[in-house]
Amino acid sequence: MKGKRRVASLTAYDFPMAAALDAAGVPLILVGDSLGMVVLGYPDTTHVTMEDMEHHVRAVARARPRALLAADLPYRSCLDVPRALQNARRLVAAGAEAIKAEGGVDILPQVKALVAEGIPFLGHLGMLPQRVVVEHGYRIKGKTEAERQALLADAKALVDAGAFAIVLELITAAVAREISAAIKIPTIGIGSGPHCDGEILVTTDLLGTSPDYIPKHVKKNWHMREQIRSAVVEWKEGVEGQPPGA
Ligand code: KIV
Repeated sequence: MKGKRRVASLTAYDFPMAAALDAAGVPLILVGDSLGMVVLGYPDTTHVTMEDMEHHVRAVARARPRALLAADLPYRSCLDVPRALQNARRLVAAGAEAIKAEGGVDILPQVKALVAEGIPFLGHLGMLPQRVVVEHGYRIKGKTEAERQALLADAKALVDAGAFAIVLELITAAVAREISAAIKIPTIGIGSGPHCDGEILVTTDLLGTSPDYIPKHVKKNWHMREQIRSAVVEWKEGVEGQPPGA
């Protein structure tokens, strides 16, 4: 799709959402480990297990989307080649058609092993949510020359290892633009400015049902949490408005 059509990608965690995204023609659906925060109530993605991912990949795959269905390797599931292969195979058995993992040159042997096994690989660079504890929070990447060079080297290494696209999360717009121009595969941005080859959002951020807050890069929030509350209140008042035993 690079240079032809921008990639508009969204996350799904269950059957009805996957069916809705597919009906809207979304070409790439990700069962992201954001699942942990926006669906399972964990404080961050480091609590997400392989079992959590398998359960939700199965639910999404049951919608049989025409979209390419990618799934995240969760925290510590990609530490070495044997673990990456074993866990990626589990997600593929659950219905994933592509695998995403966070990292660049640090996970190249794992990426090469997955690609050699015929598993399409989606990269993820920039702010890496699975590193939130060691990095003490979520921070925009690419602000220093050292970070810029490291991000470019990571992106080029992922291309050489066989990745088919790379998610760029919370990278400065200038560096995201530079990476997008430097590599032949699509970059899919999230909070990384307008110059990537596509964009991905956590669907509950777009709809407004994420529990804590909606990130700044979400331009329009559909406030569905408030719509759900109003629907429930209206229904509840209807039930409670009837005389008891009527
Ligand atoms: O887990 C996730 O939802 C992600 C985002 C980049 C979309 O990785």
